[in-house]
Amino acid sequence: MTIFRGTFIDIPENPFTGGVLRVDSDAGLLVEDGVIVARGPFLDIRRAHPAEPVVDLTGSVVLPGFVDSHVHFPQIRAVGGLGLPLLEWLDKYALPEEARMADAAYAAGVAREFVRGLASAGTTSALVFGAHYSDAMDALFGAASEVGLRITSGLVLSDRLLRPDLLTTPVRAYAESLALANRWHGTGRNRYAVTPRFSLSCTDELLATCGELMEAIPGALFTSHVNENKAEIATVADLFGGSDYVTTYERHGLVDRRTVLAHNVHPTDVELKLLGVNGASVAHCPTSNAALGSGLFPLHRHLQYGVRVALGSDVGAGAGFSLLKEGLQAYFCQQLLADQGRPLTGTHLLYLATTAGAEALNLPQVGHLSPGQAFDAQLIRPAEDSPLAIGISHAEDYEEAVARIFTLGTTTDVQAVWINGDLLTT
Ligand code: GUN
Ligand code: ZN
Repeated sequence: MTIFRGTFIDIPENPFTGGVLRVDSDAGLLVEDGVIVARGPFLDIRRAHPAEPVVDLTGSVVLPGFVDSHVHFPQIRAVGGLGLPLLEWLDKYALPEEARMADAAYAAGVAREFVRGLASAGTTSALVFGAHYSDAMDALFGAASEVGLRITSGLVLSDRLLRPDLLTTPVRAYAESLALANRWHGTGRNRYAVTPRFSLSCTDELLATCGELMEAIPGALFTSHVNENKAEIATVADLFGGSDYVTTYERHGLVDRRTVLAHNVHPTDVELKLLGVNGASVAHCPTSNAALGSGLFPLHRHLQYGVRVALGSDVGAGAGFSLLKEGLQAYFCQQLLADQGRPLTGTHLLYLATTAGAEALNLPQVGHLSPGQAFDAQLIRPAEDSPLAIGISHAEDYEEAVARIFTLGTTTDVQAVWINGDLLTT
């Protein structure tokens, strides 16, 4: 067993419905086999376990590891393609890079960069939008296993309207997805996610195949995109006889508690109601929404309809792996919505980046640092005299300190990361 000594800040309960920030300064977390078995004042924990080694993290802040609910593995080398809306951005920047994943050696290099990038941003769990090629998916799951990240991912499926080298057929999609799930779902910390790219690039037949895959892989998640961009939404309505976007998935049994749909910037009330009643989650990706000019996310309406919302970085349309940056951009977005927006505090941002993501991904063992949880954590230790160090030391209270961490923090302030009690060395 190990005792971690420090200031631990987390948010176990939803602050949109009354949860409050939990701060324990000079606390001890007793960790056994990766699981937190006790949390309390350091001296009490020490007295009860005098022989256990102590990891001293005092003088900084320990947060739970972040949970990224939407990030694309094959797009890391395409970040920064600015100036285009979604469909043009896909054609010019994202899809040419995704086509390079056909080369297994190239994909393996990207996979290594990807998992290191996530971990060094303090992200310990992620729902990863995969690649269109099985060998590339093997590379991703393999690289994630080496680092120990909690990855949920799957082969990306499309059978129309993309460049031909990214297309599959329903029969091939079923066989390849199932073979990948058999290799990786439940292997170590990996899980499988059935992943049609978006209904724009998927026929009804392929979406029906996704429904069959969900039946065939117990415990799998379902992930895709929805209502991101107005031109995209109009095309989907044309392709599906005027149907709304959420219904294109729902009619194949793909909208329920296992579902995480990215974006949802332009939902109708009917769609929000369907998502809320069915227990589905939305991955809010605010830097991506701003970069692609997709729009301002209607968080307040999601909350009104009881839709679960978590944060996603959406690399490569987003601006990097840091959920600190996404949290700040989520805050900006609600400010820009003025009286239509939902004002956010540092507590909300920390929740969206941690416990909300754990709930969306059905990972009850992570998100906060309570006894019984896995010790997935990150040490925020800014350089001396940096604006963040000054900001934290002059904060009135810890809620203000957390707001400053989201405002000023970057990946360089994440000095150490643990997953299941193990210090990462990447
Ligand atoms: N919709 C379909 N594919 C993508 C993608 O790669 N990125 C984003 N932001 N939206 C998508
Ligand atoms: Zn995406």
